[in-house]
Amino acid sequence: MVVELKDGVYWVGCVDWNIKHFHGHELSTHRGTTYNAYLIIDEKIALVDTVWGPFSHKLIENIEEIIDIRKIDYVIANHGETDHSGGLPELMKLIPDATVVVSERGKESIFKHYHSNWDFKVVNTGDAISLGENKLVFVKAQMLHWPDSMFTYLTGKNILLSNDAFGQHYASSGRFNDEVDDTEVYQEAIKYYANILTPFSDLVIKKIDELKSLNLPVDIIAPSHGIIWRKDPMQIVEKYYEWASGKNDDSVVIIYDTMWNGTEEMALAIAKGIEKEGLRFKMFHMGVCDRNDVITEVLRARGILIGSPTMNNGLLPSIKPILEDLKGLKFKNKSGAAFGSYGWSGENVKLIEENLGKARIKVLQEGIKFKWQPTKEELEKCVEFGRNFAKGLMSG
Ligand code: FEO
Repeated sequence: MVVELKDGVYWVGCVDWNIKHFHGHELSTHRGTTYNAYLIIDEKIALVDTVWGPFSHKLIENIEEIIDIRKIDYVIANHGETDHSGGLPELMKLIPDATVVVSERGKESIFKHYHSNWDFKVVNTGDAISLGENKLVFVKAQMLHWPDSMFTYLTGKNILLSNDAFGQHYASSGRFNDEVDDTEVYQEAIKYYANILTPFSDLVIKKIDELKSLNLPVDIIAPSHGIIWRKDPMQIVEKYYEWASGKNDDSVVIIYDTMWNGTEEMALAIAKGIEKEGLRFKMFHMGVCDRNDVITEVLRARGILIGSPTMNNGLLPSIKPILEDLKGLKFKNKSGAAFGSYGWSGENVKLIEENLGKARIKVLQEGIKFKWQPTKEELEKCVEFGRNFAKGLMSG
């Protein structure tokens, strides 16, 4: 169902209740998602972003509920990733003369996705297109989260169309933040930030500062996924600032896998030590946990403990993807340590510490490892290990 944001501005996107994995199978989306596209009716008519390709027909249907689709003058493609540009091929068959407005890098990425010579118009920060009464003003937003990303601001209506930034993978019946459960929305917003935007945190801060310095009135922030921020829209901007700054809640996450419970026994004993020092912790067995949910917890935590047995001179395979994530996501202000049981060669702790280094996570103390099943005395040493880690974390 199309929804009016403000007089003459409509959400014409689609809700995808069924998608449980995004980016192929890389990102879990337990609550589905939406592909938000916005139709702006003025003397000229503009569509801002499209939808993922399989939903093209729905986008077209939605637009035609409001206008004759052939009246569209401009299609703004804020970002080339196919969940937003995928509707272009079907749409452009109907409106081949419409101008496709893109950033310089957007022209490159969209052309290389669809190999179509549409009438591209390249815009830069500060460029504007008059629609009649109101204008579209463009702000480049490189690496939030692709080099091609940009924001579009609609004057007069004071709407910031921010594409992926400030979005969430969240399917809902309500389109606005005042129509849905806040807790659910924030869980999905922080998951989105942690898994997608963390490496670009310094740019997030710069971009927010730049936006604030423009002093644009913002009544609505309309991202390309999830709900539209209508009630107190700047709340999500402030949250982004907080997440980007590397602020944490002093908690610890213990990420591990285990074969015959030796490493798990160590994890539990370390947790006991952390608890004794008054810190909160969460435990994640990577054999059964969702990687993207764990990454969300990493964003909030201060301490990152990683445990694995040694297998084939290496680590358990289930631990490796999250180590790769930690390296790529470049979290700020984290400290960590390694632990695990082993049988023969015992490379586990050394390998984990190397990986913490690659992820720029400070190794707070030397790792701990024991052969086969840890004894009672060895588990006591794990408790001490946890206590020392907690103390080091709080004094660091
Ligand atoms: Fe939602 Fe970067 O695409």
